[in-house]
Amino acid sequence: MLRLQLDNLEIFRQSLQRATAKPGFYDSFYDNFTAESEEIAAFFRNRDMPQLKAKLNNTLKMAAEFAEGKPGIGLYIEMLGRTHRRLNIQRRHFTMWEHALLETVREYDEEYDKQVLAAWLLVIDMVIGRIFATLDEVEKAAY
Ligand code: HEM
Repeated sequence: MLRLQLDNLEIFRQSLQRATAKPGFYDSFYDNFTAESEEIAAFFRNRDMPQLKAKLNNTLKMAAEFAEGKPGIGLYIEMLGRTHRRLNIQRRHFTMWEHALLETVREYDEEYDKQVLAAWLLVIDMVIGRIFATLDEVEKAAY
Protein backbone atom coordinates (compact mmCIF):
# COMPACT_ATOMS: atom_id res chain seq x y z
CA MET A 1 0.00 0.00 0.00
CA LEU A 2 2.72 2.45 1.04
CA ARG A 3 4.80 1.29 -1.91
CA LEU A 4 1.94 2.00 -4.28
CA GLN A 5 1.52 5.46 -2.79
CA LEU A 6 5.22 6.28 -3.22
CA ASP A 7 5.14 5.09 -6.80
CA ASN A 8 2.22 7.38 -7.47
CA LEU A 9 4.06 10.37 -6.00
CA GLU A 10 7.06 9.61 -8.17
CA ILE A 11 4.86 9.22 -11.25
CA PHE A 12 3.21 12.58 -10.44
CA ARG A 13 6.57 14.34 -9.97
CA GLN A 14 7.99 13.01 -13.21
CA SER A 15 4.85 13.88 -15.16
CA LEU A 16 4.84 17.43 -13.72
CA GLN A 17 8.52 17.74 -14.63
CA ARG A 18 7.92 16.62 -18.25
CA ALA A 19 4.84 18.79 -18.70
CA THR A 20 6.31 21.97 -17.22
CA ALA A 21 9.67 21.57 -18.97
CA LYS A 22 7.86 22.61 -22.13
CA PRO A 23 7.09 26.30 -22.47
CA GLY A 24 3.42 27.22 -22.27
CA PHE A 25 2.08 24.72 -19.76
CA TYR A 26 0.67 27.36 -17.42
CA ASP A 27 -0.52 29.58 -20.28
CA SER A 28 -2.46 26.62 -21.66
CA PHE A 29 -3.79 25.72 -18.23
CA TYR A 30 -5.29 29.19 -17.69
CA ASP A 31 -6.58 29.21 -21.29
CA ASN A 32 -8.30 25.87 -20.66
CA PHE A 33 -9.57 26.95 -17.26
CA THR A 34 -11.02 30.30 -18.37
CA ALA A 35 -12.60 28.51 -21.37
CA GLU A 36 -14.61 26.38 -18.90
CA SER A 37 -17.12 29.19 -18.32
CA GLU A 38 -17.61 32.95 -18.40
CA GLU A 39 -17.81 32.84 -14.61
CA ILE A 40 -14.30 31.36 -14.40
CA ALA A 41 -12.96 33.86 -16.94
CA ALA A 42 -14.36 36.71 -14.81
CA PHE A 43 -12.35 35.56 -11.77
CA PHE A 44 -9.12 36.15 -13.68
CA ARG A 45 -9.82 39.57 -15.16
CA ASN A 46 -7.34 42.19 -13.98
CA ARG A 47 -5.14 39.69 -12.18
CA ASP A 48 -1.37 39.54 -12.33
CA MET A 49 -1.28 36.39 -14.46
CA PRO A 50 2.53 35.96 -14.74
CA GLN A 51 2.72 36.05 -10.94
CA LEU A 52 -0.22 33.67 -10.57
CA LYS A 53 1.38 31.20 -13.01
CA ALA A 54 4.63 31.27 -11.03
CA LYS A 55 2.74 30.70 -7.77
CA LEU A 56 0.75 27.81 -9.17
CA ASN A 57 4.01 26.26 -10.40
CA ASN A 58 5.42 26.43 -6.86
CA THR A 59 2.24 24.98 -5.40
CA LEU A 60 2.16 22.03 -7.77
CA LYS A 61 5.79 21.30 -6.95
CA MET A 62 4.83 21.31 -3.27
CA ALA A 63 1.77 19.14 -3.86
CA ALA A 64 3.68 15.86 -3.90
CA GLU A 65 5.39 16.80 -0.64
CA PHE A 66 2.01 17.59 0.85
CA ALA A 67 0.63 14.22 -0.28
CA GLU A 68 3.67 12.61 1.33
CA GLY A 69 2.73 14.27 4.63
CA LYS A 70 5.71 16.62 4.85
CA PRO A 71 5.14 18.87 7.88
CA GLY A 72 4.31 22.51 7.34
CA ILE A 73 2.92 22.21 3.84
CA GLY A 74 -0.57 21.49 5.18
CA LEU A 75 -0.57 24.96 6.72
CA TYR A 76 0.31 26.52 3.38
CA ILE A 77 -2.58 24.64 1.71
CA GLU A 78 -4.95 25.83 4.46
CA MET A 79 -3.84 29.39 3.82
CA LEU A 80 -4.63 28.86 0.13
CA GLY A 81 -8.08 27.62 1.19
CA ARG A 82 -8.67 30.88 3.06
CA THR A 83 -7.47 32.97 0.11
CA HIS A 84 -9.93 31.20 -2.18
CA ARG A 85 -12.73 31.45 0.36
CA ARG A 86 -12.29 35.23 0.45
CA LEU A 87 -12.68 35.25 -3.34
CA ASN A 88 -15.94 33.29 -2.89
CA ILE A 89 -14.69 30.35 -4.93
CA GLN A 90 -16.88 27.30 -4.52
CA ARG A 91 -16.59 23.55 -4.85
CA ARG A 92 -17.97 23.39 -8.37
CA HIS A 93 -15.19 25.77 -9.48
CA PHE A 94 -12.65 23.29 -8.16
CA THR A 95 -14.17 20.55 -10.31
CA MET A 96 -13.59 22.78 -13.34
CA TRP A 97 -10.07 23.58 -12.13
CA GLU A 98 -9.23 19.88 -11.92
CA HIS A 99 -10.77 19.20 -15.31
CA ALA A 100 -8.77 21.99 -16.97
CA LEU A 101 -5.55 20.92 -15.26
CA LEU A 102 -5.85 17.26 -16.30
CA GLU A 103 -6.68 18.34 -19.84
CA THR A 104 -3.49 20.42 -19.90
CA VAL A 105 -1.40 17.55 -18.53
CA ARG A 106 -2.81 15.33 -21.28
CA GLU A 107 -1.73 17.92 -23.86
CA TYR A 108 1.78 18.49 -22.46
CA ASP A 109 2.96 15.15 -21.06
CA GLU A 110 3.79 12.87 -23.96
CA GLU A 111 3.87 9.91 -21.56
CA TYR A 112 0.36 10.60 -20.30
CA ASP A 113 -1.59 7.39 -19.70
CA LYS A 114 -4.03 5.90 -17.18
CA GLN A 115 -1.32 5.48 -14.55
CA VAL A 116 -0.23 9.11 -14.89
CA LEU A 117 -3.84 10.24 -14.64
CA ALA A 118 -4.34 8.14 -11.48
CA ALA A 119 -1.23 9.68 -9.90
CA TRP A 120 -2.40 13.24 -10.64
CA LEU A 121 -5.87 12.46 -9.29
CA LEU A 122 -4.41 11.09 -6.06
CA VAL A 123 -2.22 14.14 -5.41
CA ILE A 124 -4.69 16.80 -6.61
CA ASP A 125 -7.62 15.29 -4.73
CA MET A 126 -5.60 15.43 -1.53
CA VAL A 127 -4.81 19.10 -2.07
CA ILE A 128 -8.42 19.94 -2.96
CA GLY A 129 -9.61 17.89 0.04
CA ARG A 130 -7.53 20.01 2.38
CA ILE A 131 -8.70 23.22 0.72
CA PHE A 132 -12.35 22.08 1.16
CA ALA A 133 -11.73 21.22 4.79
CA THR A 134 -10.51 24.79 5.27
CA LEU A 135 -13.50 26.22 3.40
CA ASP A 136 -15.86 24.20 5.63
CA GLU A 137 -14.13 25.36 8.81
CA VAL A 138 -14.34 28.97 7.71
CA GLU A 139 -18.03 28.53 6.85
CA LYS A 140 -18.78 26.95 10.23
CA ALA A 141 -16.89 29.68 12.05
CA ALA A 142 -19.01 32.31 10.27
CA TYR A 143 -22.21 31.12 11.98
C1 HEM B 1 -6.50 23.06 -5.87
C2 HEM B 1 -6.87 24.05 -6.67
C3 HEM B 1 -6.17 25.39 -6.72
C4 HEM B 1 -4.87 25.71 -6.46
C5 HEM B 1 -3.72 24.77 -6.05
C6 HEM B 1 -4.76 27.15 -6.64
C7 HEM B 1 -3.60 27.87 -6.45
C8 HEM B 1 -3.55 29.24 -6.36
C9 HEM B 1 -2.41 30.00 -5.89
C10 HEM B 1 -1.06 29.41 -5.47
C11 HEM B 1 -2.76 31.30 -5.91
C12 HEM B 1 -1.89 32.50 -5.47
C13 HEM B 1 -2.24 32.82 -4.04
C14 HEM B 1 -1.39 33.92 -3.47
O1 HEM B 1 -1.30 34.99 -4.07
O2 HEM B 1 -0.78 33.69 -2.44
C15 HEM B 1 -4.12 31.37 -6.38
C16 HEM B 1 -4.83 32.54 -6.56
C17 HEM B 1 -6.03 32.60 -7.21
N1 HEM B 1 -6.85 31.55 -7.54
FE1 HEM B 1 -6.45 29.62 -7.26
N2 HEM B 1 -5.97 27.66 -7.02
C18 HEM B 1 -6.86 26.62 -7.09
C19 HEM B 1 -8.18 26.71 -7.44
C20 HEM B 1 -8.79 27.84 -7.90
C21 HEM B 1 -10.14 27.89 -8.40
C22 HEM B 1 -11.11 26.72 -8.49
C23 HEM B 1 -10.38 29.16 -8.77
C24 HEM B 1 -11.67 29.63 -9.37
C25 HEM B 1 -11.77 30.51 -10.30
C26 HEM B 1 -9.18 29.93 -8.48
C27 HEM B 1 -9.00 31.29 -8.67
C28 HEM B 1 -7.95 32.02 -8.18
C29 HEM B 1 -7.87 33.48 -8.29
C30 HEM B 1 -8.90 34.41 -8.93
C31 HEM B 1 -6.66 33.85 -7.68
C32 HEM B 1 -6.05 35.25 -7.65
C33 HEM B 1 -6.04 35.91 -6.35
C34 HEM B 1 -5.36 37.26 -6.44
O3 HEM B 1 -5.00 37.74 -7.52
O4 HEM B 1 -5.17 37.82 -5.38
N3 HEM B 1 -8.24 29.09 -7.95
N4 HEM B 1 -4.58 30.12 -6.64
